Amino acid sequence: MSTQRVAIVTGAARGIGAATAQRLAADGHAVAVLDLDESACAGAVETITAAGGRAIAVGCDVADAEQVEQAVARVAEELGAPTILVNNAGIIRDNLLFKMTEDDWDAVMNVHLKGAFLMTKAVQAFQTKEKYGRIVNLSSSSAQGNRGQANYSAAKAGMQGFTKTLALELGKFGITANAVAPGFIQTDMTAATAERIGMSFEDFIEASAKAIPVQRVGQPADIAATISFLCSEEAGFVSGQVIYVAGGPLD
Ligand SMILES: NC(=O)c1ccc[n+]([C@@H]2O[C@H](COP(=O)([O-])OP(=O)(O)OC[C@H]3O[C@@H](n4cnc5c(N)ncnc54)[C@H](O)[C@@H]3O)[C@@H](O)[C@H]2O)c1
Repeated sequence: MSTQRVAIVTGAARGIGAATAQRLAADGHAVAVLDLDESACAGAVETITAAGGRAIAVGCDVADAEQVEQAVARVAEELGAPTILVNNAGIIRDNLLFKMTEDDWDAVMNVHLKGAFLMTKAVQAFQTKEKYGRIVNLSSSSAQGNRGQANYSAAKAGMQGFTKTLALELGKFGITANAVAPGFIQTDMTAATAERIGMSFEDFIEASAKAIPVQRVGQPADIAATISFLCSEEAGFVSGQVIYVAGGPLD
C-alpha cells in the first residue's frame, strides 16, 4: 500500500481530468477536483466520494495568478500539502493560421502554458518542503503539428519543454515531472473538433479509429491509467519523459 498523498487535477470537471481524478482517488489519494466553475466539479466529486474516496471541488481559472494562489492554499488547508499535480486544463481555439485571431492564440497559450506554469509554481512550494512530488503535464500528439492548430500544437510542444525543465530543476527535491501526450481521446474536446469539421461525432470516431494501429480511439481511462503510474511512488526513476498514449507509435 503506497502512502496517501494530496493530488490536484486541473480541468477535472469532465473528460480526461475527471477520469484522472477518479483514478487517483481509487489509488488512495485525496483529490482536489479543480475547474473553472466549482459547481461543475460536483459530479466528479460525487463519483469519487460514492466510491469511498476523498475529494473536494475547487473553482479556479488556472490562467489567473491570484486565483491559483488562493486555490492551492485552500487545498493545503482542507486536504493537506499537495504533492501530486496534474496540469490537465485545456481549451482549443482551432483555425487555419490565416484566420486565427490574436485572441485565439493568447487564450490557448494562457490556459495550457501559463496555467501549468502558475499551478506548478504554487504547488512546488509544498513539494520541495515535503521532499516529494509528482507532476504530470498534458501534452498531445498535436505537439508534432496538426492542421488548424498552430496555437494548440505550439502550446502542447511547449508543455514538453516545460516538463523537461521541471525534471531538471526539481529532481533533487524528490520531484519527478513527466508529460503524457494523448492521441485521439473520446471527450467533449474531440466532439467539438468533429463539429468544426462538419462530421457527426460517431463518423469522426469511426474514421479516426481506422487510422490508429489498435483500431480504436482512446478513452479518458486510458490516459488516467498512464497518469496513475507516473504519479505512483514506484515511478520515482521516470522523469522528464514524454509518453505518447495514442494506440500506436509516434516519433
Ligand atoms: N481529447 C483528446 O483527444 C486530447 C488529446 C490530446 C491532449 N488532450 C489534452 O488533455 C486535456 C484534457 O482534455 P479533454 O479532452 O478532457 O478536454 P475537455 O474539454 O473535455 O475538458 C477540459 C476541462 O478543462 C477545463 N478548463 C478549461 N480552461 C480552464 C481554465 N482556464 N482553468 C481551469 N479549468 C479549465 C474545462 O472547463 C474542462 O472541464 C487537455 O489539456 C487537452 O488539451 C486531449
